[in-house]
Parts: sequence; C-alpha cells; structure tokens
Amino acid sequence: MIREFIYPDLTLRNSFRVAQKADRLLEFETADDLRTIFERGISGPWYVLSGGNNILFTQDYHGTLLTPVSQGIRIVSETGDRVLVTADAGVEWDDLVEWAVEHELWGVENLSLIPGKAGAAPVQNIGAYGCEAKDTIESVEMFCPETKNILILSKDHCEFGYRDSIFKRMLKGRSIITSIRLQLSRRPMPRLDYGDVARKVEERGGISLRNIRDAICEIRRTKLPDPAKTGNAGSFFKNPVVSRQEAERLLALHPDMPHYPAANPEQVKLAAGWLIDRAGLKGYTNGHVGVHARQALVLINLGGATGNEVLAFAREVQQKVKETFGVEIEPEVNVL
Ligand code: EPU
Repeated sequence: MIREFIYPDLTLRNSFRVAQKADRLLEFETADDLRTIFERGISGPWYVLSGGNNILFTQDYHGTLLTPVSQGIRIVSETGDRVLVTADAGVEWDDLVEWAVEHELWGVENLSLIPGKAGAAPVQNIGAYGCEAKDTIESVEMFCPETKNILILSKDHCEFGYRDSIFKRMLKGRSIITSIRLQLSRRPMPRLDYGDVARKVEERGGISLRNIRDAICEIRRTKLPDPAKTGNAGSFFKNPVVSRQEAERLLALHPDMPHYPAANPEQVKLAAGWLIDRAGLKGYTNGHVGVHARQALVLINLGGATGNEVLAFAREVQQKVKETFGVEIEPEVNVL
C-alpha cells in the first residue's frame, strides 16, 4: 500500500528533530509499490528517507521522499546451524535484533539498540562492539528505478567497508532497498572482546544471547543519548583512517591515543571521539547545538536547532580537531 503526504513536516521523521518540510513523501511497502510509483512517474528528485537516523536536513526537500514501512521478518531456510532470515526494509533494526534473540539466533546481538531500520543497515554497514552488519548480511533486495527491476545483490557485490558500501557509491540514487537477508546461527558465536562487553556479560551471569543483548543495551544507554529525548544522529563523524606514518607521529605526542588496525595494513584507524574529547570539546555547546557530554562523537540538538546550525557547529568541531591534531574528520551523517 502507498500512502502519500503532501508538504509533510519532517520533525518526527529525522532523529536530529530539525523542522524541515518536503514537497511530498510516499510511504511504500513492497517493490511492486515502488514500481507503481515510478511507472506513474516522479517529477523532480527523490530520496529514500528511512528511519531518519543518519540524516541532517539543512533545508526543505524539494522533491519526493520515499519511506519503507513494511514490517515482515521470516525464516526462509535452515541448514544445519545456519538459518536464513529475511527482514523487510521498514522493520526497526532493534526489533529485528530482539526477534533474533527471542528465536535463539546468533549474529546480530552486538548490534542491539542501533537506531534505524533494517533497510538502512547495509547502506552504511552499521557497526558496534566488534561487529558489523556485513558479518551477517547474505544478500540485499532492491528496486532499481532506472530499469524498474527488482535485483538481489549478494554480499560479495555489496562492497562493504567501514561505514561504507556500494549503496553509498555506485548505487547511490539508483537503488531502493526493499529487504535484507541475514545468515544467523543456532550455534553460539559470542563476540565479547570489545571494551567492557565481557565484564558486563559476566556481571549478568555469563554468556547467553539475552545477557549479551542486555549488556550492550546497558553500555549504549550509559554513553549515547536517547534520540526520543535528545535530537542526535548517533556518531556524527566517522573514525578517521590515517597513514601509518601519521599515526606514529601522533602516538609519539600522545602515547595513550586509541588506534586500531584499518582494512589497508598501511593505514591506522583513530577514534574521532577521543580526538574531539582531547581537543577540549566534550560537553561544549554553542547556541542550540552541543557535543554530547558522555561520547564526544555525538552532536546533540539542545532544542530548536536548525540543520544549518548543526552543520556550522560540526565545522567548528572539525576545525578544532584539525588545529589540535592535524587530522581531518568527516561526517558520517548524510547532509541534505
Ligand atoms: N573516547 C574518548 N572520549 C569520547 C569518546 C570516545 O576518549 O568522548 C575514546 C574511548 O575511550 C575509546 C575510543 O575513543 O578508547 C573509542 O570509543 P568508543 O568505544 O565509544 O567507540 P567509537 O569509536 O567512538 C564506534 C562507533 C559507534 C559504536 C561504538 C562502539 C563509529 C563512527 N562509531 O564509536 O557507532 O557504537 O564504536 O562499537 O564507528 C554510530 O555509528 O552511530 C555509533 C554510535
């Protein structure tokens, strides 16, 4: 079913809670709905607005926003320990994690409480606590407006990287994800080696899917603001990847600087949160925007901020980090 909204107010459709409007918004359920929409023709630009958790509107959108609302989760097949599960694009990601935990299926529990919808998970390859969406995604179903075909892209063709995929590159503006297929496991495969996770799981009585999910939820709730209460889009910046040489220069000056291996062995990933924190900006506010007091990677709307104010504030943070460390940090959030 397709639902049309003319000049919708987007405040409750973006987690930053900025008050912009769009010319039109269409909620859709299936790939057939999308075919109907594109066969009728869309005048002007279009953009997929999923949960609105990774987007910053800096102006009204003069075009059509497309929002998936389909809610199905189903087991497609089981082979030995392996269970293939399909989730529609409109399913809340965390509802999918809860469903997997209830069904005793391993693979996504470390990604508990990440805001957003299932269809958005492959786009930026969501990740937390040592896991990424790419670890379980088997394939992605999408509708291609140019050809009006439905295609299934296997994981190997999704070009997943750190907060990156083909959907942010070659298929940007050319694909609309309608469902994702995950490969989950009946066999326990706990991953507890990130930060406090192992200790928090132990405190809850040891390894189980429920204990891991609860531990991750607790860690996230203590560090990250609840988007229902404070407008934010999770990590505003990506963790920067620098050359090994650059990392060595910084480590000589700051031996306690967190650093991680990058996909390319000649490069090193740094923690943008640490850089912002050490640049003295944790808890810093200017006007209606601030750096979150418990995780400096998150920018927050203190109430009534416009998208442009958030963007100007983000530039101030980028500049201060550049001045202090000589490192460029880039937004993870899509600015529209
Ligand atoms: N740190 C500070 N000060 C801060 C924040 C972090 O010193 O204000 C230090 C921490 O002590 C730690 C390091 O920086 O040594 C990394 O911090 P953390 O473990 O909190 O993770 P992150 O790299 O800042 C990434 C993801 C988060 C995800 C966490 C946990 C990105 C852009 N962000 O943050 O994802 O929850 O790891 O796995 O990769 C998101 O994408 O929206 C998000 C919240």
